[in-house]
Amino acid sequence: DKLVTPYEQIGGAETLTRLVDTFYDLVAKHPDLAPLFPDDFTEVKERQYQFLTQFLGGPTLYSDKHGHPMLRARHMRFPIGTTQAAAWLSCMSEAMDRIGLKGELRDQFFERLRLTAYHMVNQWETDK
Ligand code: HEM
Repeated sequence: DKLVTPYEQIGGAETLTRLVDTFYDLVAKHPDLAPLFPDDFTEVKERQYQFLTQFLGGPTLYSDKHGHPMLRARHMRFPIGTTQAAAWLSCMSEAMDRIGLKGELRDQFFERLRLTAYHMVNQWETDK
């Protein structure tokens, strides 16, 4: 039997391209997130597409090009509190709604992203 990965179940490259595009359009408009990002999202969209592809068991696009993800280390130069983690997840949830991703597959994917987002938190918040 051939192993069917979440990457394939979700609809592969086509779905992830739509998800990433929709997600960063929301991030670009979010007051708690936009200031952290460059004006041009081309590169971050590409890297996130590569990362999520391998995160879901698809081809190892990110590691092939950029090495070990070390996501927490790569996020250390940005101040990320629980406010930013929650904002990131709200944009992702909205993006999943907009592309029509639902059901158990969405719930499992989102849960893994929730854990990853809170793992990126590197600032204690005293004002929010
Ligand atoms: C890169 C913010 C969570 C995956 C970035 C960048 C920022 C950022 C500002 C760099 C943009 C640039 O190149 O200038 C955040 C914030 C998060 C968060 C505020 C809130 C918790 C996540 C999560 C994931 C993720 C949960 C994975 C599911 C990535 C990837 C990159 C990236 C793959 C590109 C890394 C690289 O190759 O340098 N993020 N991020 N991020 N983020 Fe996040």
